[in-house]
Amino acid sequence: MAAAALLAIAPCVAPAQSKAPQLNSKNVDKVLKAMTLEEKARLLVGGTEVIVNGKLEKVPYAYNDAVGQSHGIERLGIAETYWTDGPAGVRIRPTRQGDSRTFYATGFPVATLLASSWDTDLVERVGRAMGEEVKDYGCDIFLSPALCIHRNPLCGRNFEYYSEDPLIAGAMATAMTKGVQSNGVGVSIKHFAANNCETFRTENTSNVSQRALREIYLRGFERVVKDANPWTIMSSYNKINGVYTQEDYNLLTGILRNEWGFKGMVETDWTGTRNTVAQVHAGNDLMMPGNYEQQKQIVDAVNSGKLSIKDVDRNVRRILELVAKTPSGKGYKAPQVTDLKAHAQVSRKAAEEGMILLKNNGNALPLASGLKVALYGRTSYYLYANGWGSGDVNKVHTISLFQGLSEGGYKVSPELSSIYNSSDSYFKVTPENARLRAEDCDVAIVTFGRNAGEGGDRHVTKGDWYLTDYESQSLKNIVDAFHAKGKKVIVVLNTGGVIETASWSAQPDAILLAWQPGQEGGYAIADILSGKANPSGKLTSTFPVKYEDVPSQNFPSNYNNEPFKADWKNYGYVDYDEGIYVGYRHYLTKGVKVAYPFGYGLSYTTFAFSGVKAQPKGNVINVTVTVKNTGSKAGKEVAEVYVAAPKGKLDKPLRELKGFAKTRLLNPGESQTLVIPVRMDDLASFDEANMQWLTDAGEYTAEVGSDANTILGTAKFNIKKAIVKKAPTKL
Ligand code: GLC
Repeated sequence: MAAAALLAIAPCVAPAQSKAPQLNSKNVDKVLKAMTLEEKARLLVGGTEVIVNGKLEKVPYAYNDAVGQSHGIERLGIAETYWTDGPAGVRIRPTRQGDSRTFYATGFPVATLLASSWDTDLVERVGRAMGEEVKDYGCDIFLSPALCIHRNPLCGRNFEYYSEDPLIAGAMATAMTKGVQSNGVGVSIKHFAANNCETFRTENTSNVSQRALREIYLRGFERVVKDANPWTIMSSYNKINGVYTQEDYNLLTGILRNEWGFKGMVETDWTGTRNTVAQVHAGNDLMMPGNYEQQKQIVDAVNSGKLSIKDVDRNVRRILELVAKTPSGKGYKAPQVTDLKAHAQVSRKAAEEGMILLKNNGNALPLASGLKVALYGRTSYYLYANGWGSGDVNKVHTISLFQGLSEGGYKVSPELSSIYNSSDSYFKVTPENARLRAEDCDVAIVTFGRNAGEGGDRHVTKGDWYLTDYESQSLKNIVDAFHAKGKKVIVVLNTGGVIETASWSAQPDAILLAWQPGQEGGYAIADILSGKANPSGKLTSTFPVKYEDVPSQNFPSNYNNEPFKADWKNYGYVDYDEGIYVGYRHYLTKGVKVAYPFGYGLSYTTFAFSGVKAQPKGNVINVTVTVKNTGSKAGKEVAEVYVAAPKGKLDKPLRELKGFAKTRLLNPGESQTLVIPVRMDDLASFDEANMQWLTDAGEYTAEVGSDANTILGTAKFNIKKAIVKKAPTKL
């Protein structure tokens, strides 16, 4: 568009009047009344383009180093606000032109690891630290947490998300939101909604049933909206059932505001110009990153009657309410420095709590101190702290496992560290090399690393889902040599998502799933391997035996990077044929064997569950269980509360997670009684024929377990009368 045409709306020349009202939380309507249409349009669109000396200029992202900002309007005291990523920590550039200081942020563990702690108090503590950094670096809105469901293990951004289960996703995102917002900055829960693949993400339509939408893909967002009052929500790139979420009135107003009572503001994911009028009407308040073309479209549409000023005013009011409560809106001057030392400790502790011990034959772990270690695998020396894209963090360092072990008193084989620190860090371990190391080392540790990120999905290929041939061969050579000497082999998985394990997991003595553990990851892994920390993490997504067992076979990346074919099934659209049967809901109900089940994780000690009771009380059922440490080491356990519902007119999964709690650190012999509330509303299934939540009358069974397959205590409770709650809005 010619700059001249654009300039037509640029200078917001307002009618001469006495000093205009200056925005604060109490005079929003007054300011709204004083705004011109051009000023309103300016506020509805992100501020990445400004007019400088009559010329249209792009604002570099260096603007306070955020990834986006909302426009300020000086005349009315409306401040610019600054928006920064992302789920593993604040994403700003570490250096600024002409400034000798550095601006590193803390690299926290990825969301999947945080969720694997099953500890909402811990996640809230991480959120508090993250929110402190958002505010210290002069930002206002944190583009996090991300809680899309792990519908398929190959989604490239699963590391940024929590789980295959909506209760976990909602509970963790709620804790994160409370933590971040306790600093007086806002979150942006994302990506709303059903954004479960990266392939062709801006054009893809997720074809989902109303029931699967309500029970699986919207449920977590609903929980956060109702429990934590997020300041903003980010509407996703994709469509649902053929309609862009960013233009979907039924989603952004019908469900989000009218049914759930959301009071905050909605901004788009970082799209270019789409149907701006439809976005405004739908209740998508702010177009990010924003451009002048969109502003002009709004002004023209109101003037031509295509867009109601009522819609514009409704959205502008929500943005004014948001701006008024931000640090920038309150004129806060950020220190531009933060407590990286304290936050590094929060990151390390969180990493320890979310790592999962998958196997520990013959108590191979924990390792005795001072051992000589044959440390194999590239990511033993170059740890993946997090995935790539907007979920990455510019952190001051990433501690490798090599460093963590070395500083933890272990002697790492110099022959190996020199090989891996050389260029040949993908070298194949020959039988000869393995034999030599089995001679001069006490134990072998092999790390397999996998990375993925925004804009692409993973593939069912060697080096991604499967081990590569050299990884498999190396593992075999190492295991043969060390076992021949009666020595142990430990595998560490440094991955952002689920990989194939069944074909090789019988070989090593122990397997630790470290996920992508953030900048202190090497210390955290060493703390667990040495027994300084007792692993207490549990899976929040299933490890299937083989990819073909995954219920969501409709997934775009199954084409293994073949060149695009016009007749590709699931390209540009994905049919969620599996409905609500995602993850353990599928495997359990269909009786499919898995490698490691949802909720699974070992400890260096053992626990017993007893005294399970279920007592209805108002709109919850309190499930009580006593957990006892029956082993020889202090440790923490998670009590997972599943519910098996009575048969009704709707088919239902065998059991579904409806509550959970983690014990404090229990010493050997110590017990703790947990009271875990199960919400009555969470027992409902969605009856899409009648667009209503339906809780059948009948006998329910609360099943308390240490994973989805291992139920250790049950208690029955009755619901005398069926409960129906209308939810009329269809997508
Ligand atoms: C990206 C991502 C979103 C991120 C935004 C800003 O495309 O989808 O998660 O917050 O743009 O970087």
